[in-house]
Amino acid sequence: MESFRNRLDTKKVPKHVAIIMDGNGRWAEQHGSSRIMGHEHGVESVRSAVEGAGEIGIRHLTLYAFSTENWERPKAEVDALMSLFVQAIENETDKLMKNNVRLSAIGNIAAMPADVKANLDRCIDRLKENTGLNLILALSYSGQWDIINAVKQIAAEAANQQLDPEKINNEVFRKHLSTSGIPDPELLIRTSGEYRISNFLLWEIAYTELYFMPKLWPDFRKEDLFEAVVDYQNRERRFGKTREQITN
Ligand code: IPE
Ligand code: IPE
Ligand code: MG
Repeated sequence: MESFRNRLDTKKVPKHVAIIMDGNGRWAEQHGSSRIMGHEHGVESVRSAVEGAGEIGIRHLTLYAFSTENWERPKAEVDALMSLFVQAIENETDKLMKNNVRLSAIGNIAAMPADVKANLDRCIDRLKENTGLNLILALSYSGQWDIINAVKQIAAEAANQQLDPEKINNEVFRKHLSTSGIPDPELLIRTSGEYRISNFLLWEIAYTELYFMPKLWPDFRKEDLFEAVVDYQNRERRFGKTREQITN
C-alpha cells in the first residue's frame, strides 16, 4: 500500500499540530513492564513525531507531556517522569540542533523541579536561533490554568487603568495566553483510544480538527502523524459558514 507520506498534499500541511501523547501506562502493562518503562519507550515516539513534523514542513508541534493534574500521580511516577524529562532534553538537544528545531515550553514551568527547569532553559537557549520546526512542550500545563492566568493579567491591567474592560476581545485575550503568537492548531491528535481533551489547549482548539487513534503512544511513529494529516486534508472546515461560502 502507498504510504501516507506519499498521499500527503504538501501544499495543505497544517501549520500547527498538537498531540496528547497518551497510553504509556497501558503499553507497559501489555508488555509486562512498569509504567515508567512505558514512559521511557514514549521518547522514541516523540523523536519520530518531531522528525516527521519537520520533514513535511509543520511549523509548530505542541506535545502534551505533563498536565497540571498529573502532579496527583504517585510520587515515584512523578519523580521518574521528571528524571526522564531531564535525560531526554539533554540527550536530544544535539539532534534537535542538527534538525534546525527551536524549542519552547508552555505551562507552569516555575513548578517544575530546578534541574528540569535548568535543563529546559539551557536547551531552549541553545536552539533559539533555529528556523525550522518550533517544538512546544506543554509541561505542568492545563488549559484552565492558562486561561486563569490570562484573566489575572487582564484584571490587573484593568485595575491599573491600562486596559479599558470594554476593549477586551478575542485578540486581547489571546495575547495573554502562553500560546500567544502561535497560530491555533489546525489538527489535534490523541492516542490510546480516549475521546477527551483532558484540559489541554481549551481556548485554542475552538475550531481545531480532532483525530483520535487507538494506538498507544509508545507505538506511535511518523507514519501515524502522516496518516492523521492526510485525514485532516480530506475534511471540509466550514468555521460556521455554509459549504457554498467555503468553496467560492
Ligand atoms: C501518557 O501516558 C503520559 C502522561 C500522562 C505523562 P499515561 O501515563 O497516561 O498512560 P495510560 O493512560 O495510563 O495508559
Ligand atoms: C493527558 O493524559 C495528559 C498528558 C498526555 C500529558 P492523562 O492520561 O493524564 O489524561 P486522563 O487522566 O486519561 O484524562
Ligand atoms: Mg493516560
